[in-house]
Amino acid sequence: MSKIKQLSEQMTNRIAAGEVVERPAGIVKELVENAIDAKSSTISVEYILGGLEKIIVSDNGQGMDETDLRKAFLRHSTSKIEKEADLHAINSLGFRGEALPSIASVSNVVAKSSYNQKSFELHINNGNELSFEPISFGKGTTLEVSQLFYRLPARLKYLKTPQYEASRINSLMNSFALGYPEIAFSVKNENRTILETKGNGKLDEIIFELYGAQAASMTKEFSGESSNFKISGVYVLPHIQRANKYHEYFYLNSRMINYFSMNQVVHDVFHRYMPRDRFPILVLNINSDVQLVDVNVHPSKWQVKISFEKELLELVSKTLNNSLMSEMAPKVMSHQPTQQIIQPTIKPTPTPQPTTKIEPLNLFEQPESEYESSQDKMKVIAQHHGKYILAENEEGLFLFDQHASMERVMYEMFIKKMSEKKFDQQQLLTPLVLKKVPYVENLQDKLLDFGIEVDLLSESELIVRSLPTYLDKVDPYNFINSIFDVLKEDSKASFVSLNDHKIATMACKASIRFNERHTILSLQRIVDDLLVCENPYHCPHGRPTFVRLDPKSLLKEFSR
Ligand SMILES: Nc1ncnc2c1ncn2[C@@H]1O[C@H](COP(=O)(O)OP(=O)(O)O)[C@@H](O)[C@H]1O
Ligand SMILES: [Mg+2]
Repeated sequence: MSKIKQLSEQMTNRIAAGEVVERPAGIVKELVENAIDAKSSTISVEYILGGLEKIIVSDNGQGMDETDLRKAFLRHSTSKIEKEADLHAINSLGFRGEALPSIASVSNVVAKSSYNQKSFELHINNGNELSFEPISFGKGTTLEVSQLFYRLPARLKYLKTPQYEASRINSLMNSFALGYPEIAFSVKNENRTILETKGNGKLDEIIFELYGAQAASMTKEFSGESSNFKISGVYVLPHIQRANKYHEYFYLNSRMINYFSMNQVVHDVFHRYMPRDRFPILVLNINSDVQLVDVNVHPSKWQVKISFEKELLELVSKTLNNSLMSEMAPKVMSHQPTQQIIQPTIKPTPTPQPTTKIEPLNLFEQPESEYESSQDKMKVIAQHHGKYILAENEEGLFLFDQHASMERVMYEMFIKKMSEKKFDQQQLLTPLVLKKVPYVENLQDKLLDFGIEVDLLSESELIVRSLPTYLDKVDPYNFINSIFDVLKEDSKASFVSLNDHKIATMACKASIRFNERHTILSLQRIVDDLLVCENPYHCPHGRPTFVRLDPKSLLKEFSR
């Protein structure tokens, strides 16, 4: 007897449902994509209990007639492609014809649609048609999905809390809103409005809606072109950052996609202006000939294959880099209405760093004669209000934010030392005594990991015997205290395991403050060290380190 049986349509639909509609957000994605394909200008999404109880998606699009409304729920029925050639040039978001039958096979669906002033309602429960009748109904289509996965307890168990499922729907809808600013979206969790966009095409208004006024005011547009691609979009200046990469939105020919290699490119560019574990807010639209793109990679359509990918990645990298360089370059201060940008000409050739020589421990204790500025070009002339360093060269007068500047120096130095993974130590001639030390388990070993050798005198007192040479620019008291802070937060922290955010925090704590007076010589050293940094223009948090007053605008100020 033959053992092989052909599965019923109901079974194949349920199997397909596993991939197409993994969770409520997957259903919302398919229904909203259908509404977009139907040329809707208004789309509303309402859900209850994270979509587990109910999802309603309504649109004002083309609608379906009596025959199509029923056909739409048959497996592999689609109005979007006909022949094989169409598969290589997909213009619509849907094309597989499997979303509606899959959804209807694992839930209770009520579909209402209107076409040529005639409207019908179709009711399907777990793949079985319960009713089909004429109704009176406005324009477009409404799909109501309830009792999701009631017949699939294993799948129901796999879902997370309603709050989590709701957050997945909300971030998906944010992504639709940013990708389709010309469509008015509304999202409601029960009766609570989560998102409402006007559909006026203004991306910065949607950024305002999602990320607030400050982010919206820091939004910059960019665009670029290569032989096969056109790109455009907006980003928020790197002063505003996010803790993960989920605020980088990519659209390929209007289809939202996950694109790991593109995330990498974006990070490479933005991490010059923010710590490596912080991420930007960015919307990137990529347009190409549809023939260059294969969207038929996975049923959920989040992945695509792109021809000439290297060209595309380079185009994005170059465009973003140029845009950020001009946005983030130090601005010339003048009363002229348009701000000029200084090209990074002030960067001198780096002076070789002494590797073995043990330098004096503390910059601020250094005798004047021992330190000579290597940057004869940039001369510190004064400190202003204990906050800014005034310096000059032939390009004009420079104002350095003393804290931000030193922060950048320390940050790059820590990163460098961490990559070397070892540091020389030097014995202190006069050991330092630290009091009021907080309790940290195995403190001695942990400090040794940072290159600091100590002996414990009592529970709250220790004596520092030797310090790493990387501390030559830092006040050791401040620095050791900043390590205590890191250890208090994370007792397992070690020098090489520190993440960028922590390094930035340590750099901040180890740097001179904003209201501290210092000698011209020590300030000169900060400026010199800053100017040989990889990115001298910004502190690790993205704030500028200095501004320039150029000689021409000064002459103008004095009417000369
Ligand atoms: N909101 C809608 N408005 C108009 N037509 C729709 C809508 N949703 C679905 N349809 C029709 O139903 C068909 C089947 O939808 P679906 O199962 O999602 O497959 P696909 O989108 O891949 O074609 C679509 O091709 C379209 O013709
Ligand atoms: Mg579809």
